[in-house]
Amino acid sequence: MTDPARESIPRHIAIIMDGNGRWASERGLPRKEGHRAGAEAVREAVEACNEIGVRYLTLYAFSSENWNRPKPEVAALMTLLERFLKTKAKEIGKKNVQLKAIGRLDMLPERTRNQLDKVIAETSSNDGLTLNLALSYGSREEIIDATKALAKEVQSGALSVEEIDHDIFSSHLYTNNTPDPDLLIRTSGEFRLSNFLLWQLSYAEIFISPKNWPDFHKDDFRAAVEEYKHRNRRFGKV
Ligand code: IPE
Ligand code: IPE
Ligand code: MG
Repeated sequence: MTDPARESIPRHIAIIMDGNGRWASERGLPRKEGHRAGAEAVREAVEACNEIGVRYLTLYAFSSENWNRPKPEVAALMTLLERFLKTKAKEIGKKNVQLKAIGRLDMLPERTRNQLDKVIAETSSNDGLTLNLALSYGSREEIIDATKALAKEVQSGALSVEEIDHDIFSSHLYTNNTPDPDLLIRTSGEFRLSNFLLWQLSYAEIFISPKNWPDFHKDDFRAAVEEYKHRNRRFGKV
C-alpha cells in the first residue's frame, strides 16, 4: 500500500544557490569566502535529502553566464569545486550518494573536469540520492543542444518529425532519465529562473527564501519541504 505521507515528499528538488557574494560582503569578506561557505551549505542540503527521502537533488552551481564574471572569481570557483570534489567525495560515497553533472562540461578546466569524472565514476553504483551538479549550465544551451541532436536524427532518417513529442524531447536534454523537479528553491530573495531548467520546471512548485545560500540550513530546507507538502498541485486540471 502506498503511504500517503510519503507520496507528498518531493521526489526531485532543484536549488538555485544564490547570495554567496552578498553573504560575504555583509561580513566584509571577499566574495570567494561566500562561495566557500556556500560549499558547506551543500553538505547540509545533501544530508537533509537523505533524511527526508528525496531521490534527486539538482544544484545550480555555475551557470553559462557565470563565465562572464571576473577571471579571479571564476578561478576561485573552479578551485573550490575541485576541493569540494576531493574532500566531499568520500563523504558522499559513504552516504550512498551518486554524483552526476549537467551542462557544457567540456568548458570546465581540464583538472576540474578530471576530478569531476573521477567522482562520477566512483559513485556510479550508489543507489541512494542522486546529486546532480549543474555546471557551466544554461537551459537555453541545453534546449539548443537537444534541438541539434533531434535535427541530426531526423536528417539521418533515424527519427521522423511526427515522432517528436514531450518524451522524445525530454530524452534529448542533459537531464535524460531524471524526473522533472517537483520543488524549486531559490535563496537570497530573487524571483527569477536565471536560465535554469526552463523546460523541466514547467510544473514545479517554487519556494523563495530571503536567506543567502550560506545561511540556508537544514531547518530551512525542511521548512521548504513542509510548505511543499501543503501545496495543491493541479497540473492545469480542476
Ligand atoms: C551564487 O552566489 C553562486 C554562484 C552564482 C556561483 P552569487 O555569487 O551569485 O552571490 P550574489 O548573488 O552575488 O550575492
Ligand atoms: C544563478 O545565480 C546561477 C547560480 C546560482 C549558479 P546568478 O547570481 O548568476 O543569477 P542572476 O545574475 O542573479 O540572475
Ligand atoms: Mg547571484
